[in-house]
Amino acid sequence: MTDLHSHILPGIDDGAKDQNVSASLLQAQLSSGVTQVACTPHFYFERQTIEEFCQKRDAAKQVLFHYCAAELENITVQVGAEVLFSPGLLELDLKPLCMENTSLMLVELPTSYYPLWTCDVLYRLGGLGVVPLIAHVERYPYVMENPNLLLDWISAGAYTQVNATSLVQHKKRKERILKMIRHRLIHVIATDTHSLVKRPPLMGQAITLIEKNCGTQIAQEMCTCADALFAGEAPEQPEATAMKQLFGHVF
Ligand SMILES: [Fe+2]
Repeated sequence: MTDLHSHILPGIDDGAKDQNVSASLLQAQLSSGVTQVACTPHFYFERQTIEEFCQKRDAAKQVLFHYCAAELENITVQVGAEVLFSPGLLELDLKPLCMENTSLMLVELPTSYYPLWTCDVLYRLGGLGVVPLIAHVERYPYVMENPNLLLDWISAGAYTQVNATSLVQHKKRKERILKMIRHRLIHVIATDTHSLVKRPPLMGQAITLIEKNCGTQIAQEMCTCADALFAGEAPEQPEATAMKQLFGHVF
């Protein structure tokens, strides 16, 4: 399996604090059935330049490859970034923020408000040759209230991601997410792991849960989609359907 969202690189953000945590996370990923991992440290447009970010990321990658050589014999790692959404991104050369060897860029939206220009920026990113993958859509209150927003983002060329722990550990979110998966509004599951405590890597459990509740075919298609994105391909998206809406509520 492929994990497209993780904070495993040591000492660069609020994820793995050192190489020992990185090693334990890689071991947990392997136990869970994951053999390909995108390391996606946070990038904040207003706080640092892309050059500064890339220097830090490359240094952290070297530490990872030096200290976790044993784990990395069985796991392929590619670095990318989790980029906080901003229209200002359109002014930048975004290639260094895309996952290695791909045009895929993990994009994080604000949780406190819905940027009304989201769709427009997603379309424009596509025009710049960037394929957006929207991180943990279940964490945005406006998406959970109206999951049909995702239809517009998908039409704009984006792929969508949900965190494994939101399915496995959050009973309140689970049923809503499973319904979104059945409507094909979610393309991939990823861990967004920060440590063995904060969002532990539970990919295997999440995929098993999807198999049981949404069927083997959907679970397999989601895994295949993540594999293809990791390989730099642009997999065809399944036809997404709108969830029912009545008196302003989406069911
Ligand atoms: Fe993240």
